[in-house]
Amino acid sequence: MGVGVVGFAWSGCSIEKHYELLSFFFDGVPNPNALPVTGSAGGFESLRDSPTYSAHRPFLDEQCSECHTSQFSTSGVSADVCMNCHDDVPTSLERMHGPVAAGACLWCHVPHESAFASLLKEKPRAVCGQCHEQGLLNTSKVPAHADETRQCLECHYGHGGTSSYFLRPDAKRAQPGNQEP
Ligand code: HEC
Ligand code: HEC
Ligand code: HEC
Ligand code: HEC
Ligand code: HEC
Repeated sequence: MGVGVVGFAWSGCSIEKHYELLSFFFDGVPNPNALPVTGSAGGFESLRDSPTYSAHRPFLDEQCSECHTSQFSTSGVSADVCMNCHDDVPTSLERMHGPVAAGACLWCHVPHESAFASLLKEKPRAVCGQCHEQGLLNTSKVPAHADETRQCLECHYGHGGTSSYFLRPDAKRAQPGNQEP
């Protein structure tokens, strides 16, 4: 991931400058360590050292005003800001996952950067666990539902799919009697 690191380090500098500027003009603008990325131990640096680090293209390109008002009023981010560029997402699949269809993007994603792939705000299990309590999942049909080491996204898509339960093509193999050696 060498090449990527150089790119991110460069963008990092100028983004941090932005925060300095913001902090100067607006008291109480959080510094980058306070970015709304939970579940990432450590600060800014370790976030970017994560092997699954992901960053949002318009954030890296400093298109801040695409989402924030020109005054950088962060409270002014509208709930459906994501639709400005991703309006196809809520209807993109045959069977849509409820929160995606409802445009509730920020339940699962962060808008800037994340220690986790696909701008997820936490580890996938924790993201899904916000609404799907683990103890309520069917463990007789799917023993893996009780296995803390398995990730929901091994078997399910996040946005929906073509089959019920939004299963990935190889998810069935993980069911009892169907396991790989
Ligand atoms: C894709 C849209 C988008 C872009 C681009 C974007 N932001 Fe944000 N930003 C948001 C949203 C949404 C929130 C509110 C997050 C929340 O409520 O969890 C936010 C929150 C913030 C906050 C408050 C931090 C916090 O912890 O709540 C700051 C400061 C900020 N943005 C600065 C910036 C700067 C500087 C840039 C450009 C380098 C930028 N943003 C680019 C969408 C965006
Ligand atoms: C100004 C346009 C714009 C806005 C607004 C915007 N996005 Fe994006 N988003 C992009 C672009 C460009 C990409 C990169 C697409 C690509 O690489 O093919 C992207 C990619 C993503 C990705 C994939 C990241 C990855 O690493 O695979 C996610 C997730 C995402 N956006 C979520 C959001 C969410 C959540 C919001 C609302 C807070 C949002 N976007 C608002 C332009 C935007
Ligand atoms: C229930 C959690 C959840 C919600 C809500 C959600 N996403 Fe995602 N999104 C994911 C996951 C998980 C991935 C990673 C791809 C996967 O494994 O299915 C992803 C991937 C993406 C990508 C990368 C391209 C792709 O499809 O793989 C984009 C862009 C994106 N999401 C945008 C959005 C937007 C815009 C919204 C709001 C309309 C949204 N997401 C709502 C969980 C969610
Ligand atoms: C914001 C709340 C929320 C989050 C976060 C969320 N879900 Fe859901 N999920 C729902 C709701 C509501 C339904 C029922 C409506 C529907 O079928 O889309 C649902 C339905 C499902 C279903 C289909 C269940 C059925 O009986 O058909 C699966 C599978 C699923 N979610 C998996 C996931 C996975 C995997 C994640 C993490 C990437 C996740 N969910 C995150 C709210 C959520
Ligand atoms: C090893 C693969 C696998 C993993 C890992 C997995 N699932 Fe499933 N899940 C399935 C299969 C297969 C079904 C369909 C079961 C059936 O046919 O009734 C399912 C069904 C579901 C359902 C609907 C039925 C129910 O139990 O409520 C939900 C919701 C769900 N999964 C959420 C999750 C979440 C959240 C995670 C992560 C904590 C997760 N799954 C991890 C394979 C998996």
